[in-house]
Amino acid sequence: MNTRFLDACWGKPVDRTPVWLMRQAGRYLPDYMRVRSKCTFLELCKTPELAAEVTIQPVDILGVDAAILFSDILTPVEPMGMALDFVPGPVFEHPIRTMADVEKLRIPQMEQDVPYVLETIKILRRELANKVPLIGFGGAPFTLACYMVEGKGSKDWATIKRMMYAAPEVYAALMEKVTMMDMEYLNAQIKAGAQAIQIFDTWGGVLSPSDYEKFVLPYTTKLINGLNRQNVPVIHFVKGAGTMLDTVKKAGGDVMGLDWHTNLGKARDILGSMAVQGNLDPTVLFAPNDVIEKEVKRVLDENGGRSGHIFNLGHGILPTVPPENAIHMVECVHRLSQQ
Ligand code: CP3
Repeated sequence: MNTRFLDACWGKPVDRTPVWLMRQAGRYLPDYMRVRSKCTFLELCKTPELAAEVTIQPVDILGVDAAILFSDILTPVEPMGMALDFVPGPVFEHPIRTMADVEKLRIPQMEQDVPYVLETIKILRRELANKVPLIGFGGAPFTLACYMVEGKGSKDWATIKRMMYAAPEVYAALMEKVTMMDMEYLNAQIKAGAQAIQIFDTWGGVLSPSDYEKFVLPYTTKLINGLNRQNVPVIHFVKGAGTMLDTVKKAGGDVMGLDWHTNLGKARDILGSMAVQGNLDPTVLFAPNDVIEKEVKRVLDENGGRSGHIFNLGHGILPTVPPENAIHMVECVHRLSQQ
């Protein structure tokens, strides 16, 4: 088995820097589009054989060192009682606005309500046959609540922030419920065979450091503390966290995901012995090959040969990236980091 990725999560030395890409299964791959053209995105998530197929595609095509379960952070929110659609961004028909809305939410029974996710993980562990480890994932409570309250994506997330300030008891009740759901969801993924867990807090960085500490940190900390993580490293990715890494670190977790606004070397100085993942600007993948190579080298140089680095983009790969550029990036990471 290629253990580079898991070794790096634990801060152990590796022969080459492991690499994978956030959103590595997706629309930039013609192979994905072929499968996706026959069904909707949600149908794809709910059909284990197809979800497993598109999970494995980037492992074969790009040569990455880890697979990530194909699903969405909002998959387990639908069975809480929230009708969900993708157009292609997520849309909830009835967003959460009042205490009565929060009280109506149920905590799903994972085996009954999201069996397809657990079945996909089981198929993947068989089909990957230990070639590379499988990462499971979930949204951080705050990012899930952002979509649940707003009902869709937003530039400023003003609706949930207004709830946070003006109706803190509704916000707290919602976050408690989402955190409990998330804990059960991620533990079910671990039980089914996920070998690492990534928590995506895509919108944590829209808050001031003090609001993050007050309104987000307690819930993510509770979530991470509640995971059955013997031998299962937890990667915590908070986009926009560059100015508050010392605070975000307090949530626990084994690896800090970094976006591209942060200098990786300076982040490591703040984080001490904690492993890091990142952090190439995703748009670099539109550049010519020699520029991609230079940028990969810059990130590796910022890490300065320290163990505990997993190479990744600073956020998801963009749908219009030419696949050959992503293949080139992976090859550069492996070649330039070879010990
Ligand atoms: O990384 C992977 O390859 C695994 C699959 C994965 C998806 N979504 C598939 C997806 C993962 C890890 C996610 C996480 C996710 N989903 C996040 C956190 C990471 C991030 O990007 O910030 C968020 C915020 C979502 C919510 C979401 N899902 C949005 C905003 C969108 C629309 C944007 C877009 O890319 O179209 C989705 C849809 C989605 N999730 C697609 C895929 C492949 C596109 C659906 C399609 O095929 O049409």
